[in-house]
Amino acid sequence: MHVREAQDDADRSELLGLLVGPWLAYAVSAAVELGVVDRIAREPAGPRELAEELGLRPEPLYRLLRALAAIGILAEDPEGAFAPTGKGRLLSATHPGSMRDLALLYTSGFFTDAWKRLGDSVRTGEPAFRTAHGTDIYGYLHTHPADSALFDAGMSVGSSFAAELPAVVDFSAASRIVDVGGGDGSVLAGLLMAHAHLSGVLFERPDVMRSAEGRLGTYVAEGRCRAVPGDFFREVPAGGDVYLLCRVLHNWDAAAARTILANCRAAMPADGLLLILERIVPGHGPGRGGAAVPDRGPEPRGTAAPDRDPAWLALAFDLNMMVMTAGRERTAAEYDELLGSAGLRTREVRDLAGEMRVLVAAPG
Ligand SMILES: C[S@@+](CC[C@H](N)C(=O)[O-])C[C@H]1O[C@@H](n2cnc3c(N)ncnc32)[C@H](O)[C@@H]1O
Repeated sequence: MHVREAQDDADRSELLGLLVGPWLAYAVSAAVELGVVDRIAREPAGPRELAEELGLRPEPLYRLLRALAAIGILAEDPEGAFAPTGKGRLLSATHPGSMRDLALLYTSGFFTDAWKRLGDSVRTGEPAFRTAHGTDIYGYLHTHPADSALFDAGMSVGSSFAAELPAVVDFSAASRIVDVGGGDGSVLAGLLMAHAHLSGVLFERPDVMRSAEGRLGTYVAEGRCRAVPGDFFREVPAGGDVYLLCRVLHNWDAAAARTILANCRAAMPADGLLLILERIVPGHGPGRGGAAVPDRGPEPRGTAAPDRDPAWLALAFDLNMMVMTAGRERTAAEYDELLGSAGLRTREVRDLAGEMRVLVAAPG
């Protein structure tokens, strides 16, 4: 075979691998949803035994199991019993860093109905979510409690990067953290657990309060934490010395993001800090050519693939923002500009896991 044909073949296989990616995601979430992963995480089992226990059909179950073994989620032993691999164990409900809810969220109907319309977003500039569901994501979640619970659970899974925050930012001089749009409270709970001298305020939409109160219950009972319902487009609670915006700004266009930042600035003391946790994408935006970015820090960790840009995951999440919201993942320069327009300035940018960054900003 000529070199060119061999390359063509390799490209075809790789492209096919990308095109069937959604099928594999559905295979993973089916195994999660059917209880297969949780069951074999306790004890390996063959398809007949599993099918009987879980009320499934052995032959189609075997086909699902062998496909998942082929992609390294499960492993089959010589006796025909299947067990999760390291990746597979991350899908079990009992794993401390379980990614189970993310698998269910990313394959859920309300997510995929929007993703199918990505082309509409590119044509119109409108979030595909709105075309698919007739409302924005938070309006939709307000009237769909089951999807809302799944969304919060998925967000909380995706927040494992925040575990590094106490080691990356010095909180020794801080006393009260206000987590603005803090979701179900997992990020704030992590900080309160790491630093006994800190107290916290979780500021969220009233809908999300119940899951947040559950997650933060012990700290609320100890008097170290309050959950405050509200709207960050109106105001943000005063009284903190560190304000946190974790995966909030990327949901909004520049005007809305500026309002949130201005409200944080208005609530902060002059010597306060604002921590912005987001992915930061390289490049300068359309029409300006080049993908170089001013000081984007060390390369992202752990997502190396032979011919992928190291920022591919951040860029994939940027597409997710385009589908789901009017927001975007921003460059470091875009964050500088936004912060500047709200009377704030970036002091430093630090790396977290999963290509996340923390931008430490202060009034100025
Ligand atoms: C992508 S989630 C991030 C949650 C959390 N910070 C995390 O990283 O896990 C964005 C959060 O912003 C909250 N939010 C949206 N609109 C809001 C508003 N107007 N006022 C307060 N919170 C809002 C949502 O309820 C949601 O929990």
